[in-house]
Amino acid sequence: MRPLFIAGNWKMNPTTEADAVSLAEAVKEGVGQDHAVRVAVCPPSVFLHRLDTVLSNSPIGLGGQNMHPEPSGAYTGELSAGMLVDVGCTHVILGHSERRHGLGETDAFVNKKLLAALKAGLIPIVCIGETLEEREQGQTEAVVGDQLDGSLAGLDGDQMAGVVLAYEPVWAIGTGRTATPEQAQQVHAFIRSRLSERFSEAIASRVVIQYGGSVKPENARDLLARPDIDGALVGGASLKAADFLGIVEAAR
Ligand code: G3H
Repeated sequence: MRPLFIAGNWKMNPTTEADAVSLAEAVKEGVGQDHAVRVAVCPPSVFLHRLDTVLSNSPIGLGGQNMHPEPSGAYTGELSAGMLVDVGCTHVILGHSERRHGLGETDAFVNKKLLAALKAGLIPIVCIGETLEEREQGQTEAVVGDQLDGSLAGLDGDQMAGVVLAYEPVWAIGTGRTATPEQAQQVHAFIRSRLSERFSEAIASRVVIQYGGSVKPENARDLLARPDIDGALVGGASLKAADFLGIVEAAR
């Protein structure tokens, strides 16, 4: 049985450390010591160090939103996996569509980051998903399949079992337009079958696959009830503690 995993991707929010601390404190209080659902928050990197302290004595994981594959060096503006670990991170989001489409990140680059994250002991959350145009052209499985092949190149089965995937249809991100539970389940089942072919059925059955794209307390329960949807990567609704906790509650 795979544990459900709810992660909040705060993106470039909130804008002050005080607000980030308040949000983290409220989430911490709401989650308490409940280990039934895995929970993580991924704030802007400037708040990570402070939030590691805020979230101490809590089962809530702390994640970066991105990292560079190299351990150190002349990479202006970047952060390494080791740095994330050093400030208390347990997780890192890789290949988010806002980086793939906004900043030109390729599967090959995501793959380098993934290998570096695993080496550093971080739990990577690797994002994949098609655009609306690709979906309308019937390309969803081809696009997602290529992203999987490219992003997961060189991984062995044991490494794969420790990777979290997040299926995020680009057309559902921040638009209020959620994939229906049926649409999401269909792609999640495809992803799992692809993992089964590439690794093994046993490994595929262990991989946690989150859904992301306008998840809210009102639609979370239906999505999470589907057999291959193992959690959610939540953007907008993770910025209000009550909404985020409502989604965690839906996973219980
Ligand atoms: O990483 C999270 C996703 O981009 C979903 O964002 O919940 O605001 O649609 P959203």
